[in-house]
Amino acid sequence: MDLRPTIREDEGAVVILDQTRLPAEPAWVRLETLADAAHAIRSMQVRGAPLIGVTAAYGVALGLAADVSDMHLADVIATLAATRPTAVNLHWALARMQRVLQNSALPTRRETAWREARAIAAEDRSANQAIGHHGFALLEPLRRQGATLQIMTHCNAGRLATVAHGTALAPIYAMHAAGIPVHVWVSETRPRNQGLLSAWELAEAGVPHTLVADNAAGLLLMQGRVDAVIVGADRIAANGDVVNKIGTYLKALAARAHGVPFYVAAPLSTIDFSCAAGSAVPLEERAAAELGAGTVAVANPAFDITPAELVTAVVSERGVARPVEIGRWNC
Ligand code: MRU
Repeated sequence: MDLRPTIREDEGAVVILDQTRLPAEPAWVRLETLADAAHAIRSMQVRGAPLIGVTAAYGVALGLAADVSDMHLADVIATLAATRPTAVNLHWALARMQRVLQNSALPTRRETAWREARAIAAEDRSANQAIGHHGFALLEPLRRQGATLQIMTHCNAGRLATVAHGTALAPIYAMHAAGIPVHVWVSETRPRNQGLLSAWELAEAGVPHTLVADNAAGLLLMQGRVDAVIVGADRIAANGDVVNKIGTYLKALAARAHGVPFYVAAPLSTIDFSCAAGSAVPLEERAAAELGAGTVAVANPAFDITPAELVTAVVSERGVARPVEIGRWNC
């Protein structure tokens, strides 16, 4: 098992695990330029809100290799900001890089960019570790006596979507490490099949899991085979609405219908306090080719909005809060 972080520095370059080649083969790819970093995000070699943010931060450092001027910095940030619209971590990381770099003298600007990107990566790792800890305390009591805890997740909000640990999967890894019997229902997540990524990393970590078609989730919830649903987020609005991978909303509806708690795990970098409600979040529309549908008309929204009232609680590095209470983390 290769548990190296999904992104790491290597002598002035950045090395990533190419997720477009998983689960078939783990392949590490070197990003050497701004164009490499932008391509990695756009093509989903890296994906998942936190990892997109960290890659963008490193992309700024790569982009300043030959020119550290204000004008070039603005171009670099604009290039990266245009890669994907929904995950706010991308824009959060770029705003942070901009803020730090505009206060940095030109001779040390490049070095400052690497240092800040490194700090963002390190903070992601520690935030997710804390999410694991808080999520453990939330989920473990749901285990029925003597039984295996049955958790459902959607998309991939595991270590592959972050620098390490994952968000929604962090509590599961923490429970597994503590010897608590846990099994994960992993939904396939059409059309990009990020469920296969979750299955791949859960298998690597030895966590029992079962892959199901997206549309099997309602039946499993109806049959009482799920104790809790936990997913990640690409952006959480100030009112607690959650924007996440397409299909999340249907799971939240089914969970509510069957009295199963629905949790969202995300670091503070995923909460957009400047965005009043989920309806204001730009939802990425992806290529028709992803549905493999020749010449028929296709709509391919990549994300949906789960209203705050369907979310039992949000887990962040600060702890657990009801969606209407996340404002207390805004400091
Ligand atoms: O299109 P993707 O694969 O980047 O979408 C990823 C998701 O929707 C994840 O659930 C979300 O980013 C949380 S990752 C910790």
